[in-house]
Amino acid sequence: MLPRLLVANWKSNKTIEEARVWIEFVSQHLSTLRLPDDIRIVLCPPFTTLPLLKDYIVREHLPIALGAQDVSPFGKGAYTGEVNADMLKELVTFALVGHSERRKYFQETEEELAFESLQAREAGISVIYCVDNADAVVSDAAEYIAYEPVAAIGSGQSEDPQKANSVCETLYKRYDKPVCYGGSVDETNCALYMNTACIHGLLVGGASLDAERFCSMVEAISSQA
Ligand code: PGA
Repeated sequence: MLPRLLVANWKSNKTIEEARVWIEFVSQHLSTLRLPDDIRIVLCPPFTTLPLLKDYIVREHLPIALGAQDVSPFGKGAYTGEVNADMLKELVTFALVGHSERRKYFQETEEELAFESLQAREAGISVIYCVDNADAVVSDAAEYIAYEPVAAIGSGQSEDPQKANSVCETLYKRYDKPVCYGGSVDETNCALYMNTACIHGLLVGGASLDAERFCSMVEAISSQA
């Protein structure tokens, strides 16, 4: 069985200096905690902060994996502004593909997302493929699915855990891939989602930006395991 994930998605937030402050705080806190073996913390920060975070995580032996928030659908070459999977594999082991904000603001299509997923998988990067409903199409190249109902993202209106669990169950049965839930998850509700039968991880945006709140989530999940 693949590990359950606690994914922090920083979106377009944090300078290198702010990332350093966050990782120092989280590092201190993690040293006082026993993380269950089946839980994996995945941090998806902006590209610019990846090298600093990677160095810090390796040096301090932190139980944190890094992920990219996006990956180019192309390989290397004349694609100005793109960051491709071969570049990313030096820094990350996971990549988010198809986040609703990529679909909405950057018009990423299902076809592009399939290429992104393939590029990542060929580079050995595990894809967390984001969808917003039970009927969504998921790339074969994905390892995890993240179910994120759009109305719940960034709104403070998280979806009812039983309803989220039932969508995750449908997706799991159809694709046989573990399914995470995302959408206004925070330190007060994370354990409720992790306690359901078919939610195999969490994708956290806003509440992951604050190191203290993020540590409270790690603690809540660890203590119920
Ligand atoms: P949120 O974002 O936790 O701020 O709702 C989740 C996401 O978009 O991944």
